[in-house]
Amino acid sequence: MSTDSRPSPAFPLISSKLSQRHYDESVATAAKSLVECSYAILNIGPELARCLDKMQGEMATTQASERTQFSFVSRTDGFMPSGMTFARDAEKVDLCETFNFWHCYKASHSRFDFSRSPLYTTAERAEAIFFEIARELIRVVSRKLEYAHPIDFRNDSFVQLNVYPDMLKHRRRAHLQELHEDGHLVTFIKPNAPGLLVRVEGRDHLVNLERDELLVISGSLLTELSDGIVQPLYHSVLDLNLPAPRASLIYNVNALYEQMPSVLGRSIAMKSLANQHHIEFGQEPYHSD
Ligand SMILES: [Fe+2]
Repeated sequence: MSTDSRPSPAFPLISSKLSQRHYDESVATAAKSLVECSYAILNIGPELARCLDKMQGEMATTQASERTQFSFVSRTDGFMPSGMTFARDAEKVDLCETFNFWHCYKASHSRFDFSRSPLYTTAERAEAIFFEIARELIRVVSRKLEYAHPIDFRNDSFVQLNVYPDMLKHRRRAHLQELHEDGHLVTFIKPNAPGLLVRVEGRDHLVNLERDELLVISGSLLTELSDGIVQPLYHSVLDLNLPAPRASLIYNVNALYEQMPSVLGRSIAMKSLANQHHIEFGQEPYHSD
């Protein structure tokens, strides 16, 4: 696909209103959809949407000096400089502002006043909600794949707020983020507006979520873990020229074991694989400070 040409506006929709096949409130059905189709829509109630609203508002009023102080690029933590990350094409950087929150770095955050700010405490709350959903989903997916090894992921996973302001847009770019797969086990995505495209059976679909729904998609670390049973989902973010800036609250789920078995018992250097992907997005290796 040429990423500079304007894509056709006629995208088929993925929506819980249109298809029962990929939608159910039960985690069991979501796990089945994730394994078989590489994505699922989950109804999770309104609190994450409220967290996203709050965080987007707070992000807009956070001063540059505060952003600079609470920025730990070497561990992908805190405010990330805009124009640094990309979807494997360094010429086409992500057109967003990013704030990352890691549960495992809370102790080191506590010496900064910013850790008492509404943006930070809301990120903390969002992480706790995401973690509970992810723990249940991964438990059921493991059982479905007959995978017995523990997957401890909380300390290797992080919440990411992406805000796509007008000032970062590029009129020659059709996408705010180019086509990619995430290189995680799974990614939970809670956007506040349309624009997310997922490539299913070779065709881009526009994801249309209700306010109390989120999308979970598979990444190539789950493909490794499952010996190819679960394929990674490629996706992009289309610039729809929305009247208000688009924002997305994301939970990137990793389990950075030096070695762990696959479903078939093959040894996987999971941390090394994850770092390869992470570096391809313009990031430093995980936990590298
Ligand atoms: Fe992504």
